[in-house]
Amino acid sequence: MAKLLGLRPKPSCLLLFGGEAAKKQQTKFFGGGEATPNPSRGKAWPHACYTMVIIGRTYVTFGEGTTHMSTQFNGKVALVTGGASGIGRATALAFAQHGAKVVVADMDEAGGNETVTLARAANTDALFVRTDVSQYSQVQALIAAAVEQFGRLDFAFNNAGIAGKQALLAEYPEESWDRVIDINLKGVWLCMKYELQQMLKQGGGAIVNNSSTAGQSGSRGVAAYVASKHGVVGLTKAAALEYARNNIRVNAILPGTIHTPLIDTFTGGDERILNQFVEAEPIGRLGRPEEAANAVIWLCSEGASFVTGAALAVDGGRLA
Ligand SMILES: NC(=O)c1ccc[n+]([C@@H]2O[C@H](COP(=O)([O-])OP(=O)(O)OC[C@H]3O[C@@H](n4cnc5c(N)ncnc54)[C@H](O)[C@@H]3O)[C@@H](O)[C@H]2O)c1
Repeated sequence: MAKLLGLRPKPSCLLLFGGEAAKKQQTKFFGGGEATPNPSRGKAWPHACYTMVIIGRTYVTFGEGTTHMSTQFNGKVALVTGGASGIGRATALAFAQHGAKVVVADMDEAGGNETVTLARAANTDALFVRTDVSQYSQVQALIAAAVEQFGRLDFAFNNAGIAGKQALLAEYPEESWDRVIDINLKGVWLCMKYELQQMLKQGGGAIVNNSSTAGQSGSRGVAAYVASKHGVVGLTKAAALEYARNNIRVNAILPGTIHTPLIDTFTGGDERILNQFVEAEPIGRLGRPEEAANAVIWLCSEGASFVTGAALAVDGGRLA
């Protein structure tokens, strides 16, 4: 389980999500003790973290990452799914800092609108579209709304994802399996399907899919997540080959453990578990959402013009 977050767990280590069942399992796997209630659950954590320091000048600072503003994406339009929180929000803001107009898609309206407000503060235009990426009609409507509002679609970061329940494979609940695969894998395919249709009309574009270190290595207790993230890498490679001659590049990132609310669902706010995550990181700390965002920006940039079909680890050395 912990590997999905970029960890090398001890052989008996299995991390669990919230709820009573999870508490019991945490006790079982971590040798007793209740999981501490998580004060930062929900969307409060990332919102508190993003602070703009200087707008419209040389730098804009969001949280701990400082990014130079640039005009490299002026006139371009970027779509980010799961943009209400965590890695998605950091990436939407990074696109904004580089001059792109931004379309934020998420099921979380409040968080999505907040990302839009932050993006506009970086002097660009932005739009929120409430979307469940597992529903084809909603994804179709999302791309249509983006094109109607901004006239084109140059970049897409297919990032929305969930971890799903934790259980050994033989006991894995079918309902959770279906939900994880529907959002993490089918959702990426649906998004690419309609993004590619638009990019083909325009004559080019760049897509980045968010996989995970769990897209390249196994992990105990989260078979659906591991399968979905391996599937994202496969979809990325297939699409890269199919559209390489259409001036459309398709790549994936494989983040290690990035400190977002998703991580809080694993730790349940328990410092001991968080410390185990840090200990397991070769680089000695967790990643920041902005560090994953930087990789997405590069993959979309001219600097990556000969890169397609790649699965780029952004993991502090976890897969090394
Ligand atoms: N945080 C990590 O350590 C880590 C590591 C590897 C991969 N990832 C991947 O990064 C992506 C983003 O994760 P995060 O850590 O930023 O988590 P997060 O929980 O902060 O953000 C995920 C966002 O996706 C949205 N979402 C969930 N289901 C959706 C759906 N059906 N339709 C639209 N939006 C939906 C959520 O509302 C949320 O805003 C996920 O795909 C995750 O698997 C995260």
